[in-house]
Amino acid sequence: MSADSLSRAAEALTGASRLLVVTGAGISAESGVPTFRGACGLWEGYRAEELATPQAFSRDPLQVWRWYRFRLGICRGAAPNAAHKAVVDMERHWKEDFLLTTQNVDGLHPRAGNQRLIELHGNIETARCTNCGHTEPVSGDPSVLPHCSHCGALQRPHILWFGESYWPGIIEDSVAFAEKADVVLVIGTSGRVWPPIAIALRAQECGAALIDVNPDPSELSAHADAWLRGSATKWLPALWERMREAAK
Ligand code: OAD
Repeated sequence: MSADSLSRAAEALTGASRLLVVTGAGISAESGVPTFRGACGLWEGYRAEELATPQAFSRDPLQVWRWYRFRLGICRGAAPNAAHKAVVDMERHWKEDFLLTTQNVDGLHPRAGNQRLIELHGNIETARCTNCGHTEPVSGDPSVLPHCSHCGALQRPHILWFGESYWPGIIEDSVAFAEKADVVLVIGTSGRVWPPIAIALRAQECGAALIDVNPDPSELSAHADAWLRGSATKWLPALWERMREAAK
């Protein structure tokens, strides 16, 4: 079944003029970054959903910062894997007809080399001023609260938290690309957060073939034209290789 899915997926990619890739935490799992809803979800007894909120930050900003610094350490210690690298190869192949829309804040896609990239939920390396909105790299003593270098107000992580609205235009830019894509390749997302999934489904509605890469059923796998059931590092290099052979 997966071999057939691989052939279908490779065939769709080979004929594609425009490719949209949508990624979630699963693509970074094999780099050692825990997924959002995976087994390693607790930190000091808290679930991610309890800490990634404006309410948690108002109640105890230092606790939220400590959690993000902990995760930042994991992300900095991780390296892009073979699946991230295959997505870079895809960008080099399709150039301006390529877009990567990621839910990941770990920075592994830009570190791997992707440039045509929309980070829907922000980036863990960046802090944002709660007063003037200025963004700058996270820095300073982790045991004290960080403050803005422009106005001196408290900084927060530049991350979209539960209950917050997406930054203006960020979804629309992905949807505009999705509507013209021939293939939407979805990698390692449970689909529990709706807007990124809506982008993928919009692409399919407008005629794109939807490929889902995930070892477990996701909100998208039942809708997929090809479900590559398994890990991202298994399927992405195989898919890229197969597509290159077919294109010869
Ligand atoms: P989740 O943790 O919800 O889902 C991770 C997905 O990756 C699951 O479907 C796993 O089956 C799959 N997976 C695990 N290992 C994999 C592997 N080696 N290869 C491929 N897939 C694998 O993470 P997301 O779907 O990214 O948003 O979560 C979406 C959003 O939920 C996050 O960006 C975050 C959270 O709310 C915000 O913080 C706004």
